[in-house]
Amino acid sequence: MEIVRTVSWMKEAARLARAENQVIGFVPTMGALHEGHLSLLRRAKSECSQVFASIFVNPTQFGPNEDLSKYPRTFASDIEKLEAAGVDLLFAPEPEEIYPAGFSTYVTVEGLSQRLEGKARPGHFRGVATVVLKLFDVIQPHFAFFGRKDAQQIRILQRMLLDLNSDVEIVVCPIVREPDGLALSSRNAYLNAQERSAAAALNRALKAAARQVQTGVRDSLTLQSTVRDVLAQEKLARVDYVEIVDALSFEPVAHIGSRATYVLLAVFVGKTRLIDNLLVEASADLGALNCSL
Ligand code: PAJ
Repeated sequence: MEIVRTVSWMKEAARLARAENQVIGFVPTMGALHEGHLSLLRRAKSECSQVFASIFVNPTQFGPNEDLSKYPRTFASDIEKLEAAGVDLLFAPEPEEIYPAGFSTYVTVEGLSQRLEGKARPGHFRGVATVVLKLFDVIQPHFAFFGRKDAQQIRILQRMLLDLNSDVEIVVCPIVREPDGLALSSRNAYLNAQERSAAAALNRALKAAARQVQTGVRDSLTLQSTVRDVLAQEKLARVDYVEIVDALSFEPVAHIGSRATYVLLAVFVGKTRLIDNLLVEASADLGALNCSL
């Protein structure tokens, strides 16, 4: 696996791959790689002739109260995992390479970036959009693979790509979970043993909502209170939000209908803020809905 540290070298590697007519699949990450990340790499590997990954703990997407310096960094074992996954190239720049002195251009996707995760983490999506656009510009991928766990991130990036006439296509990949249902996340490393077991409540709550949907419940308030009730049983969990939104506009909906809908939640377990979601969409059976956790 080639490890590239500079923008100029990365651009040259991308130019060469394009000249060879390679189909480039790209998986951007902040490192501390787990099975969730690896599932994106495997998907990219199965659909593209070259797989490029990046590891960059992006300072501009961390708020002043979020500890950038504490974000888990496991570079040596990440490299082993990337090699084992058959990744062709890793782009791992230093912050100064992406944000040199005098850097002053940011991408803001208006509206959606200010709500839900964006409200809880002001500036977060501005940092995400800016770095992803820069990464796409230097890596020149045909396809970029993202996890549905960060559903709002994907929607914001899709909006950005559409608005800026980009040809990069986003491939949305399923959420990878622990056996007890907890979605894998680099942030799970912050949980102590008690908090780790409490964190399973997020998935229990979404499962309870999915069961209700399967029995015909469509009303958002009913589903929201089911989710809140399950979470309330877990003393270490504190709800930040439980929202039921249209999967395209991310606007709240009063009822689940035939359009794809997300049940989104953000929950503090101890000091760690975790997010998860349930996707509800029309199934091939007329009138029935599919629930994906
Ligand atoms: P990071 O949190 O490292 O996540 C990288 C990718 O892995 C994202 O697309 C995320 O949705 C996906 N992912 C994380 N946990 C997952 C899980 N349990 N199952 C499936 N996919 C999962 O998201 C970021 O980094 C950054 O914001 C980034 C896009 C790299 C920009 O800095």
